[in-house]
Amino acid sequence: MPKRVYIYTVGCQMNQLDSQLVADLLDQHGYQVVGSVRQADVILFNTCSVRQHAEEKIYSLLGRLKHLKRQYPEKIIGVLGCMAQKDGEAIFRRAAHVDLVVGPGRLARLPELLAQAAAGTRPLLAISPWSERSDRQTLLAGFEPFDPPRRPQHLQPPFQAYVRIMSGCNKVCSYCVVPRVRGPERCRPPEEIHEEVSRLADAGCLEVTLLGQTVNSYQYRSGGRTIRLADLLSLLHQIEGIRRIRFVTNHPRHMSDDLLQAVRDLPKVCPCFHVPAQSGSNTVLRRMQRGYTVEFYREMLARIRQTVPEASITSDFIVGFCGETEEDFQQTVQLVEEARFKNAYIFKYSPRPGTKAAELYPDDVPLDVKRRRNHQLLQLQNRISLEENQKFIGRQVEVLVEGPSKFGQKAPQTQSSVQLTGRTPCERIVVFPGDRGLVGQFHWIRITGATPTTLLGQLEQHPIEVASCRLERGNWLPVISQ
Ligand code: SAH
Ligand code: SF4
Ligand code: F3S
Repeated sequence: MPKRVYIYTVGCQMNQLDSQLVADLLDQHGYQVVGSVRQADVILFNTCSVRQHAEEKIYSLLGRLKHLKRQYPEKIIGVLGCMAQKDGEAIFRRAAHVDLVVGPGRLARLPELLAQAAAGTRPLLAISPWSERSDRQTLLAGFEPFDPPRRPQHLQPPFQAYVRIMSGCNKVCSYCVVPRVRGPERCRPPEEIHEEVSRLADAGCLEVTLLGQTVNSYQYRSGGRTIRLADLLSLLHQIEGIRRIRFVTNHPRHMSDDLLQAVRDLPKVCPCFHVPAQSGSNTVLRRMQRGYTVEFYREMLARIRQTVPEASITSDFIVGFCGETEEDFQQTVQLVEEARFKNAYIFKYSPRPGTKAAELYPDDVPLDVKRRRNHQLLQLQNRISLEENQKFIGRQVEVLVEGPSKFGQKAPQTQSSVQLTGRTPCERIVVFPGDRGLVGQFHWIRITGATPTTLLGQLEQHPIEVASCRLERGNWLPVISQ
């Protein structure tokens, strides 16, 4: 009987992808992925360390498994991912019933490690060596790539996929633990990415999202040539079957004109830019070591809007960073007011042990102030998101239908007609009534209503064979495939 594995995932898209790859890899090694802890012989947590809250959640879930492990000592409990890399051995001290701790730079060894654990070698620690003093090359060697051959026919859902184009991060943002837990930047060869996307397309995948911590700094040198993100997009654009290409996360310093022109000129590349600002105050940005000023960020926004007028732009902000004054915060409010982001993720600063900010600066903004600033910024952004979404009322948008909507579960439903959800090229979520059979197809939806997070609409009766669409006089129009 195959061993049954349950995988619980928190964190960013990179972690979601790692979990999908782990599931596929283990499946190829005779495991069966199951949907609950009770059914499983192996329980894996793929963890995140970006804020303390994410870690606490995992430690609390691990705590709840103590009893189960006492009852069934043969079950294997493993902690994977960023928290595994950050806390390492300390995880065994905090949760003695954990058998296996595997960092993101050791995931390729997971089948072998699980076999050892099953044979009785427990606990097992597999993380990348880390020292402040190590040079980049040494660190890089310790973070092994994890791009196992995936079986596109096993993709869930079959029409959308994340594709890693780079791992790690070379930036030095003072608050951030990611470079410490994911290692230095490593870009995958373009041929390898092309091959993966082609295979996904052959299996029916329609939309790929290219992933990197600073995805727009992608570059790969080969044969005297440097391939950058713009070149990679052109290359992937040629793959038949792929209808949409997205990429996240961008860094403001790398928003080059060639990239903007590629987004403008390649119809399959979705006109959205997730490009976190983090703060609107130069004093705070300097302390965060973000490497740009707010003036630079504003100028970058203007360049995006000039080259790709229909682009949707989204951002991340940290409120209550060390030393953030009311005046600093007001400058962030000002930026959010002006920028008209489609949406923005707002986080309360959480000091991360081992980061420069945690060492150098006291976490001196009280929690209630962080909460108030978070709430105030969110309110403002919600108002802007609503206003921007309302501009879509009356227009028709092209949607890739993703599945039944959680949002619409309360709405009246018949057997075949349910509330469905899908996404526009500019990544707006659209909810509309329709048949389940539409999932995985492109359809035109006439927008009739809007909330800050969602567009509401009705199906247009003309499904169109389209390669993509462009904005013209306020309407998304199809670019018909030849
Ligand atoms: N590579 C991406 C994402 C990094 S993590 C980038 O550079 O933007 C995602 C977001 O988490 C960050 O954009 C930041 O807003 C937030 N974040 C990172 N470290 C944090 C911390 N210590 N406290 C609060 N939020 C944090
Ligand atoms: Fe963290 Fe900065 Fe790298 Fe983003 S760019 S992952 S915030 S260090
Ligand atoms: Fe992602 Fe969290 Fe790791 S944001 S890279 S899973 S620390």
